[in-house]
Amino acid sequence: MTNPEITELIAKLRDERNLSDEGLATLIDCEDATELLGIEADKVRRKIYGDAVYIRGLIEMTNYCKNDCFYCGIRRSNTSATRYRLTEEEIMECCREGYSLGFRTFVLQGGEDLYFNDERMCGIVANIRKNFPDVAITLSLGEKSRESYQKLFDAGANRYLLRHETADNEHYHKIHPAELSPENRKKCLFDLKEIGYQVGSGFMVGSPFQTTENLVADLRFLQELDPDMIGIGPFIPHEKTPFADKKQGELTLVLRMVSILRLMFPHALLPATTALGTIHPQGRELGLKAGANVVMPNLSPVSVRKLYDLYENKICTGEESAQCRGCLEMRVKNAGYHIITDIGNVKRS
Ligand code: SAM
Ligand code: FES
Repeated sequence: MTNPEITELIAKLRDERNLSDEGLATLIDCEDATELLGIEADKVRRKIYGDAVYIRGLIEMTNYCKNDCFYCGIRRSNTSATRYRLTEEEIMECCREGYSLGFRTFVLQGGEDLYFNDERMCGIVANIRKNFPDVAITLSLGEKSRESYQKLFDAGANRYLLRHETADNEHYHKIHPAELSPENRKKCLFDLKEIGYQVGSGFMVGSPFQTTENLVADLRFLQELDPDMIGIGPFIPHEKTPFADKKQGELTLVLRMVSILRLMFPHALLPATTALGTIHPQGRELGLKAGANVVMPNLSPVSVRKLYDLYENKICTGEESAQCRGCLEMRVKNAGYHIITDIGNVKRS
């Protein structure tokens, strides 16, 4: 590909918010397109969101998980993981601290932990809703029945993050055990949307066996789902998983995917993820410059942070919430943006 050809493809993607599968594959694979994609993506994000970066406070509430995803450090077969779950009071304390630090969105994330059944989870959501009526309550607790999602919505949750992980069925089965299905994962996302949640989906970049065609399929699936948020980050191996020896996702490929997403979904909320910050000291700053507009500082108690061990060398595990908030504020500023503390709803055209 020559430079003028790359420039032309990027301009077409920007103007039409779409390209042929072949055009998308060319940009995904083209190392030389990384910088220009970033420049165009940044222009688009500034036109819609200015220099605003939204913050969401992440509360990692449990690392018990009944699932056994091959890539994940908290999979049930990892018997060397020290398991923990926060009490309702601990979760409320994280929210109180987060609220005083200016957070207006809490993301309750965890493994698929059967202890947190609908009754317990609805109680927690209702408690947060009662004490903090003006916040957005985001859940990221994996696959549930439509009835459970409805109950949680009725209790006061309004957003749900569930990455589709990979849109290609064959690839899905290569990175998950047989009991998990791509059909159910996708059904959950459509159920959540129909119920009225603001939905976030996404995928890992560079997960084992992933091809360029798989990434194109991910973009096509996202066009169909049209989520409010799209979370992507590099796959990072964890030594106690079957993928211990697999290669981590490449920084520049993640950055190109962030930029392509910004050009295809100009209004989407795109986080500069912790995983991106883990593979490069300036990973999140580079993500913001490539088109991302959300960061998710950690609000979990420091005592459990190392235990929410999805992948190796995860950052932000030693810092208090206020430090993590302050650190990100500075990083966002240095990258040329600024943090907004309001609820940060997606802007729809
Ligand atoms: N259980 C919920 C779920 O499945 O959606 C939420 C927790 S799950 C640990 C959150 C996300 O972590 C997953 O969607 C996955 O993309 C990401 N993740 C897990 N293992 C990872 C790894 N080794 N490298 C990068 N990301 C990983
Ligand atoms: Fe968490 Fe820097 S963002 S410590």
